[in-house]
Amino acid sequence: MKQEKMQEKQDTLRKQEKVTILAIETSCDETAAAVVRNGREVLSSALYSQIDIHKQYGGVVPEIASRNHVEKLPHIVKEALERSGAAWEEIDALAVTAGPGLVGALLTGVSYAKALAYALDKPLFAINHMEGHICANYITHPQLEPPFICLIASGGHTNIIKVCDYGVYEKMGQTRDDAAGEAFDKVARILGLSYPGGPNVQKLAEEGDPNRYVFARPFRGQTHLDFSFSGIKTAVVNLVHGMEMRKEPYSKADVAASFQKAVVELLLDNVFEAARRTGIKKIVLGGGVSANRELREQALRRQEANEIYFPALCDCTDNAAMIASAAFYAIRRGCRAADLTLNADPSCELI
Ligand code: KG4
Ligand code: ZN
Repeated sequence: MKQEKMQEKQDTLRKQEKVTILAIETSCDETAAAVVRNGREVLSSALYSQIDIHKQYGGVVPEIASRNHVEKLPHIVKEALERSGAAWEEIDALAVTAGPGLVGALLTGVSYAKALAYALDKPLFAINHMEGHICANYITHPQLEPPFICLIASGGHTNIIKVCDYGVYEKMGQTRDDAAGEAFDKVARILGLSYPGGPNVQKLAEEGDPNRYVFARPFRGQTHLDFSFSGIKTAVVNLVHGMEMRKEPYSKADVAASFQKAVVELLLDNVFEAARRTGIKKIVLGGGVSANRELREQALRRQEANEIYFPALCDCTDNAAMIASAAFYAIRRGCRAADLTLNADPSCELI
């Protein structure tokens, strides 16, 4: 699309009362497409999960993920469009996750979205995956508005973000090593549970005693709001290996429950402290780990003067509706559409 024509189209879109966006998400092992109106009304959300394929390898194999995206994406996009009841002419804009994520996986979505935008002559918006995780909450909670404090805890990231306004972010804390989801996945592997570890550790933890083992909490007494999960993960490895070498009987459920308790406490201590420091009462959780039942229950238990929001379970993990929601607000605040030079950026930061 010619530059001037594109600008004109974007200006119209920005003011348009109803904006319908088709979004694509392929940053990891979910092939997803969705059609969303005005950032909150999901007309359709189609998803193909590759979990069963990667399970046999104990984690995501990037090359296999990319190949499956290439194979499944055209069908998923078609399914999303058909289920939305919209025709191509009713789609105002396209959106795609450009990063962060696995480079090959991201490239499949970015290339497909660019080809669609070119063929249909529609503007395309490049979206940051982490922003998508924040926006997942706008879908579950139609009344939710910034400002709020958001904890994003996924397989690759753990951040505390002050969401000052739509698209206006301040980072208040981040992990200095592993992400929370990554720690869940690694501990699951040590305990012989399959990928993805988070839901399986949660399930096992339900039968265990969370006070059986106490793992040291890093950064206790520090003023910053950063996280560290690698120490807890190593402590679990050493504990389990030690007991196995000594042939000491132990309960895997107790290990899972104690580990989960430690991670949940770390996450919540910092996010509640961020809310206290800023005077912002609304706390929002997002990302795959926000599906964790213990995290959700403990957040509600601690809330007192705070309001707690988390996405519906289906909106916690990767999906394309959250990408469409982020694109809607990007359009509203005047972000520029991408051109055909758009590339995947596997390690881009939200801020
Ligand atoms: O947001 P997501 O789907 O993908 C990334 O952007 O990384 O998050 C996936 C992560 C995985 O590490 C998975 O183990 C974790 O979220 N997860 C959970 C739960 N469900 C998914 N962790 C703890 N408890 C859960 N119920
Ligand atoms: Zn994600």
